[in-house]
Amino acid sequence: MARIFITGSADGLGQLAAKELINLGHHVVLHARNNERGKQALAKVPGADSVLIADLSSIDETKALASEANALGTFDAIIHNAGVYRVSNNSVSADGLPLAFAVNSLAPYILTCLIQKARRVIYLSSGMHLQGNPNLDNLPTGTNKGSCHVSYSDTKLHDLIMSMGVARKWTDVCANAVDPGWVPTKMGGAGAPGNLEKGFQTQVWLAVSDDPGATVSGHYFHHKTQVHYLPAAGYAPVQEKFITLCEQITGVRFKYC
Ligand SMILES: NC(=O)c1ccc[n+]([C@@H]2O[C@H](COP(=O)([O-])OP(=O)(O)OC[C@H]3O[C@@H](n4cnc5c(N)ncnc54)[C@H](OP(=O)(O)O)[C@@H]3O)[C@@H](O)[C@H]2O)c1
Repeated sequence: MARIFITGSADGLGQLAAKELINLGHHVVLHARNNERGKQALAKVPGADSVLIADLSSIDETKALASEANALGTFDAIIHNAGVYRVSNNSVSADGLPLAFAVNSLAPYILTCLIQKARRVIYLSSGMHLQGNPNLDNLPTGTNKGSCHVSYSDTKLHDLIMSMGVARKWTDVCANAVDPGWVPTKMGGAGAPGNLEKGFQTQVWLAVSDDPGATVSGHYFHHKTQVHYLPAAGYAPVQEKFITLCEQITGVRFKYC
């Protein structure tokens, strides 16, 4: 049975994926933003091994989360699921960074670099990545930290770039990204038209299935099917630029082997 770590598993697709994986007999470590949400997560997901706590908008807390995850041993799969959507343009993190960029883009980067390599890593992207800026010229480096605008679409493109960069660099790892569809979670809203069940099944499949279709790397999935994505995400220079910018912003180096 596999051991899986899922960020943002106090609610939504992360929580649903956790429940499904436990139902399938796997071991799941949850993650929540604070102790209160951690208690709620454990109550909602009976059978989870434990819950780790960190506010992913904080670079320091995210680094500490990686250490705590490593203290539990190596995971077979990590699902980078946590995310925020409706944040105002001028919301900034404790580090003075655009909030959505900190949570959706930087946290998966930091955790990817600092958590011991899992054989499978899954990044939650979105169809909205197609509207993201592949030039990466709006990222907060230097003095423009809090003033630049990084949209949700940009961050979901970053997740896709990250997954494809990891797939290219780590040939011993299956790294893929998922568009779960517009589904009725706290983020998606009650009126979202997508199928909630299908919204988490692809991540579960990529995390633990031995199907040949699930043991690939460097792909973008919707409902277990490889679908069209912004070609720039697959370009090595774009991936390298993203990694270099993340290194500059976080001080965390990407590990190359
Ligand atoms: N729902 C959709 O229609 C849709 C569509 C495309 C892509 N996605 C992607 O799917 C993923 C999951 O979304 P969802 O719909 O399940 O959203 P959700 O119901 O809002 O759940 C998001 C999870 O992330 C956690 N989180 C947010 N900010 C955090 C922070 N600073 N520190 C720690 N945890 C934090 C939330 O914690 P709290 O519960 O404590 O807030 C929650 O557990 C996201 O990456 C999203 O971008 C969703």
